[in-house]
Amino acid sequence: MADHASKKILIVDDEPEMRIAITEALKREGHQTEAAENGADALLRLEGEVFDLVISDVKMPKMSGQELLREIKEQWPHTQVIMMTAYGTIDNAVESMKQGAFDYLLKPFSIEILAGTVNRAFLSEPEPASAPAPETPTPKPKSGTAGEMITQNKTMLEMVKFVENIAYSKSTVLISGETGTGKEMVARYIHQCSPRADQPFLAVNCAALPEGLLESELFGHEKGAFTGAIAKKEGKFELAHKGTLLLDEVTEMTPPLQAKLLRVLQEHEIDKVGGREPIPIDVRVIATTNREPKQLIDEGKFREDLYYRLNVIPVKLPPLRERMEDLPILADHFLKKHSRENGKNISSIAPETLALLNKYQWRGNVRELENIIERSVLMCPGDTIEPAHLFMEDSVAAEATGNNNALGSFRGTIYQMERELIFKTLEETGNNKTKAAEILGISIRTLRNKLNEYKEKES
Ligand SMILES: Nc1ncnc2c1ncn2[C@@H]1O[C@H](COP(=O)(O)OP(=O)(O)OP(=O)(O)O)[C@@H](O)[C@H]1O
Ligand SMILES: [Mg+2]
Repeated sequence: MADHASKKILIVDDEPEMRIAITEALKREGHQTEAAENGADALLRLEGEVFDLVISDVKMPKMSGQELLREIKEQWPHTQVIMMTAYGTIDNAVESMKQGAFDYLLKPFSIEILAGTVNRAFLSEPEPASAPAPETPTPKPKSGTAGEMITQNKTMLEMVKFVENIAYSKSTVLISGETGTGKEMVARYIHQCSPRADQPFLAVNCAALPEGLLESELFGHEKGAFTGAIAKKEGKFELAHKGTLLLDEVTEMTPPLQAKLLRVLQEHEIDKVGGREPIPIDVRVIATTNREPKQLIDEGKFREDLYYRLNVIPVKLPPLRERMEDLPILADHFLKKHSRENGKNISSIAPETLALLNKYQWRGNVRELENIIERSVLMCPGDTIEPAHLFMEDSVAAEATGNNNALGSFRGTIYQMERELIFKTLEETGNNKTKAAEILGISIRTLRNKLNEYKEKES
């Protein structure tokens, strides 16, 4: 950006391609740059002239980026430092933040993200390295709720470790995964592990509201901003100040709102509807999607620049059918939970029941499993869940035998079948119409019309 044109940046990386790429990108942004290929070289240059910012790789031969950071913070406390890291060494980068680094960039990163982070660094005062304790262990959430995230799947365990490490950072996280895979649960966990744990965690479902309402829900509005705005309203961004805001199904936002959100993420301030002055905000944004963002970008439905802003830290949750080793422990967890909640004393799931569950496709993932276990708890008179207690016995059995008809042996008119299928899908999705429509392959409007039709016919 032109107003930071006089800033001087030192780029430190042992890979020549990286040095050249970053140098080129920052020059194009109007910055003055120099490059060093290792820590010792960097220190020599720092002794010779004043740099406003150092961008350094973490992993370099001889002197690591972290050692360089320590030197810089000791000798030139007014020089900002941004670390660069690959997925595998992110622990070190996160650790660096505690030692006074401004932020870190996760490789590979776009020029946009590089430029954005650099500009933010120039807008903020360098922080001194925090008090001794660089050995502080990864924070665990206060209430021990990682314990509620049940998994023994390798990918999921790595994911948990990963989000514990990035919880410190303020960077935006994009969690993707099919419906019911635990995206919101992971978002809450990140918040609990973060220094923001004592501040609010708020969620907005971007698919649930029409554009105008969503806009004032997010950004708030002034009194009289539009017809019906009888009182001033604080938006979720303001209410989540210093905390975390979860933007659920972010890909469902309309293009004008996508543009507004992009601005908020870039400028760290919001424009209230009908407001005069932008309001500065400090909110960590976590977004979720159960769609394939890349595909939506290709279709022109989702802004690519917004995608890169949101996807600074990507987290992908595998569907349940790709981690079936989790099924028995999840089923057992939900069995105990619902047995307790319903004052029942059910202690186990019969092997035949588990065998059936193991063959099911789980389009509604963990949520669907929980719903089925909950219902079977209600149906079970004894202490063991038998196949007969699976409310969905027919459909589970049908799928298990390769007859992929969710209604199994259902007999009836097409109307009845369709009605049954719609209600079953709504149950699977916890009454989430957007999800249900998606699973059923119909538009949400069609779904609403059908539900109204049933209501009329049956009243
Ligand atoms: N690993 C897990 N261990 C225990 N419970 C889980 C796990 N994953 C998901 N759940 C439970 O399953 C339900 C669905 O999870 P969550 O709401 O986080 O899913 P989601 O991905 O946000 O779904 P959607 O896309 O439909 O919004 C919740 O009740 C959650 O507590
Ligand atoms: Mg969710």
